Amino acid sequence: MMYPLYRNRRLRASAAMRDLVRETSLSANDFIVPLFIVEGSKTKTAIPSMPDYFRFSLDLATAEAKRLYDLGVKGVLLFVKVDDAQKDNTGAAALNPDGLMQRSIRAIKKAVPELLVATDVALDPYSSFGHDGIVKEDKVLNDATVAILSKMALSHAECGADMLAPSDMMDGRILSIRQALEKAGYVNTAIMSYSAKYASAFYGPFRDALDSAPGFGDKKTYQMDVANRKEAITETIRDIEEGADIVMVKPGMAYLDIVRDLANEVQVPIAVYQVSGEYAMLKAAAAKGLLDHDSVMMEQLIAFKRAGASIIVSYHAEHAISLL
Ligand code: PBG
Repeated sequence: MMYPLYRNRRLRASAAMRDLVRETSLSANDFIVPLFIVEGSKTKTAIPSMPDYFRFSLDLATAEAKRLYDLGVKGVLLFVKVDDAQKDNTGAAALNPDGLMQRSIRAIKKAVPELLVATDVALDPYSSFGHDGIVKEDKVLNDATVAILSKMALSHAECGADMLAPSDMMDGRILSIRQALEKAGYVNTAIMSYSAKYASAFYGPFRDALDSAPGFGDKKTYQMDVANRKEAITETIRDIEEGADIVMVKPGMAYLDIVRDLANEVQVPIAVYQVSGEYAMLKAAAAKGLLDHDSVMMEQLIAFKRAGASIIVSYHAEHAISLL
């Protein structure tokens, strides 16, 4: 079939026609909002490398969670910033039943029970080395770390977390966490695995936000090589076999090919994490007048859906929902 029998522009000729033939859409149901929580009360502090994003003390984070829920947000993803004095090489603070994460889960579930509370499961905010695992002789140990991560995950479940999000990239952690949950009777606690997480330079602003930058070396022995594609598929399939309910690609924009590969390969929901560096780049470009913030933001978000994601973890979520 060819021109003029077919004219591609016919289906673009009016707003009504474009609305009718549009293949993907965004709604408040698509988003999970990251929340950064710190000790103290009544504090809301700016994060210099993430303009318009804040760290909240727990009282304000709880109010924020309520406000987000009222705007239509379905889920939050909790991260805590731990004081240096609490950091060590054993993850002790991560397992404290009265630690900041544990208190945060309980407070937010109590204040807004319908809001889905997901938690970051990884040791880097608690690590004196700034690594996602136990360090021995400059190596990040896998199995010793997994043992702690399962206890950490169980502790979050006991506090009422609806979903655990292991972001560490150790091998076997999904199976170990799933078995710990089943054994303790937490059969409905979901696992959203950071299954294809790359060793990316886009995480810089986040590491400022949580003061969690690695003290030596980099994360390339556990996070994935940015040059690889097939590995993302095998990593993800293994995580599903180990019991992950939702899988994730991270970062977002530069990895849309991976989102699409996974959408073609797996039958579980796919989340994408639009990370701190992506957020910061757009803020910086818009502040300089180089790009229109809202249009570029919406274009990126719809691209995640088009690529095959059904959940978007994004620092832009609230603003995007307000524009929908
Ligand atoms: C660490 C973790 C990171 C992010 C989420 N969890 C950073 C890292 O791996 O160093 C990055 C999020 C972002 O950049 O927005 N477990």
